Amino acid sequence: MEVAKRFIIGVDKLVPRPDIALEVLTMAHDSDGSVSAMAQKIEQDPNLTANMLRMANSSYFGHMKKISSIRDIIVRLGNDSVKLLAITSASSGLLNTPQKAYGLEPYSLWNHSLATALLAAILARYADYEDNFSVYTAGLLHDIGKVVLNKPLQEESVNKKINNKFSNIVEYEKFVLGTDHAKVGMALLKTWGLPESIILPIGYHHTLDGEEAGLLQSKILYLANFLIESIGIRSANPEKYMFKVEDFLEQNQRLPDVPNFPDNMEVIINEFYDQFNSAAVVH
Ligand SMILES: [Fe+2]
Ligand SMILES: [Fe+2]
Repeated sequence: MEVAKRFIIGVDKLVPRPDIALEVLTMAHDSDGSVSAMAQKIEQDPNLTANMLRMANSSYFGHMKKISSIRDIIVRLGNDSVKLLAITSASSGLLNTPQKAYGLEPYSLWNHSLATALLAAILARYADYEDNFSVYTAGLLHDIGKVVLNKPLQEESVNKKINNKFSNIVEYEKFVLGTDHAKVGMALLKTWGLPESIILPIGYHHTLDGEEAGLLQSKILYLANFLIESIGIRSANPEKYMFKVEDFLEQNQRLPDVPNFPDNMEVIINEFYDQFNSAAVVH
């Protein structure tokens, strides 16, 4: 059996299968799906509903009058915003746990994921990649494998008394567990039935090798995650990762070629900061 799949067995105990959230995610990605059917589904889950209302009333959407129901959101913000909010709320519930093995506090995985999603969606727009919702969702869920691997990674690190130094987290995971959070995340979301347009980029967000890594959505997610880590939105040692556009240009880092990114880098990063600053306060 593939190593990644071994960690998925029994995962429902660790991360309870979020049935309503998954159905909402699937409905939001179905371009023929009805928004009112999706709204009904959302209303079955009080946490999801509350979460969505909180987000809808954030400065990101900038409404003066309080939005007080899912129907209100549909009428006032329109279908695309409802989908965006549904995707965001459904994902946030899955990521708000402390990730000790990764040095992440509660909410920092969520902040990193939201930042990656917002930036990936901007990169996709500049690159003329049409399936914006999938890229955004892939950004939100790209590190979900860390939720699964947190405990085994902690336990095995103690057992194996590891003193080696690793240049990145993926190398460390592979050394300790024989797999990494990108592969495990992909395996988990596959068993949860999410579409390939979301799970493939997640499986390849730390590698540039392989056919799937060459897909535009994979390149976008890789770049978004890389840039967000460079900016330092991931809690661990933020000062070490302060990002300046000039520094970035001088780096010899091998990066995927995402159309129109090099020429618009500064505008893209500024646009990202504007969006993130008004969205990040929402949990
Ligand atoms: Fe990652
Ligand atoms: Fe990440």
